[in-house]
Amino acid sequence: MSENKSADWDWSEYFDKINDPPMRGTVQAAIDVLGLGQGRPAIDLGCGHGNDTVHMLNAGFEVLAMDTSAEGLRRLQNRADLEADLLSAQKASFHTADWKKNIWTNAGFALPFCPSDKFDQVWQRISENLQDGGIFSGQLFGIEDSWNGKVSDMNFHSEESVRALCNSYGIMHFEEEKGDGKDAVGRPKYWHIFHIVLQKKSK
Ligand SMILES: C[S@@+](CC[C@H](N)C(=O)[O-])C[C@H]1O[C@@H](n2cnc3c(N)ncnc32)[C@H](O)[C@@H]1O
Repeated sequence: MSENKSADWDWSEYFDKINDPPMRGTVQAAIDVLGLGQGRPAIDLGCGHGNDTVHMLNAGFEVLAMDTSAEGLRRLQNRADLEADLLSAQKASFHTADWKKNIWTNAGFALPFCPSDKFDQVWQRISENLQDGGIFSGQLFGIEDSWNGKVSDMNFHSEESVRALCNSYGIMHFEEEKGDGKDAVGRPKYWHIFHIVLQKKSK
């Protein structure tokens, strides 16, 4: 059987099915802490077709939307319901992306798709590129997730390892979700998700 790599997945079906969900709790929590963007810089890592990006833009942040998927970026840039003046886009992988210091780094259901051997360097860059007081919001997947061991280029974490990743931050929100469900295209799977919102401490 051929290896199942998320890098080979066609995300178009995800973009069709998960289109404009209600604002995620992690995104709302970040806005609650930061307030309106007033043009401050933010990045949406693994933005897809912009489910979170649109809320970041409409809250007034200047957003660099980054993803490997040209199709996701194309759909995002064609949306009419956003502050297009505040949007720029970069087609890149998490570990090759180039981004500047920002006040908000979001990664909605995206970082789990970073290959595990690249994850630590990406997590470090996220911290280095966050301003003091800046927010990270997003999801990581837990080791009980049914894709663990089946998809070769993802990363999964125990609760202990997620807490260790949060060490140098103030924890604004930490929620572990587990249970049977379906993936975006309706196939059964077991979900193990950490929803986290972190604030970089001032030195
Ligand atoms: C589950 S989707 C989430 C998309 C969007 N953040 C959302 O919340 O709807 C995962 C996204 O991660 C992107 N992705 C996967 N591997 C990536 C990588 N190595 N670097 C950057 N983006 C990646 C995919 O193209 C896809 O758009």
